[in-house]
Amino acid sequence: MKNTRAKTLLAASLSVAVAVPALAHIERSEPLQSLRQSYFALVGMTFGPMGDMVKGKIEWNGDQFAAWANDLAAISSVSVERGFAPGSDKGKTRAKPAIWENPADFADKLAAFRTEAAALAVAAKTGDQAAATAQFKKTGGTCKACHDEYKARNYLY
Ligand code: HEC
Repeated sequence: MKNTRAKTLLAASLSVAVAVPALAHIERSEPLQSLRQSYFALVGMTFGPMGDMVKGKIEWNGDQFAAWANDLAAISSVSVERGFAPGSDKGKTRAKPAIWENPADFADKLAAFRTEAAALAVAAKTGDQAAATAQFKKTGGTCKACHDEYKARNYLY
């Protein structure tokens, strides 16, 4: 009896979840801005817990770290470039106009991130914590290099 009631409750809560607008994180009038922000949100939410592990805020677990590193490498390879198409420098964004003024440099910084993220997946797989940590820091440097030039702290418009 109890089980059936739990199942009914679960079914009810699922149907509520489905009733929420399906595009909750997508701004219909600014789909490109939403695309790139979704990409970086996923990057941040993968890199963040890895940082917690590196800093010892959560216990080191080499398998978990390697799984996150794999995710990061995969996510990094998604073609976020299309989210920076001409004309998408408007709206609710932290992307600085400098991106559209220096597309080659921006592309270089994105490529550096992808290269280091791929190397991080390889380093993490070896199970060598020191090597994984060193490569994590190197990868973090590519986030900072791009953010320093091209990401504003607050929304621009
Ligand atoms: C090539 C440039 C570049 C690199 C490399 C880069 N970022 Fe960003 N990031 C940006 C830009 C530009 C934005 C702002 C996008 C916008 O608001 O339209 C951003 C936004 C973000 C956001 C906010 C996403 C949101 O919800 O709006 C997070 C979190 C983030 N980056 C984390 C990271 C981390 C962590 C790394 C490295 C592991 C990284 N980024 C590497 C350019 C970069």
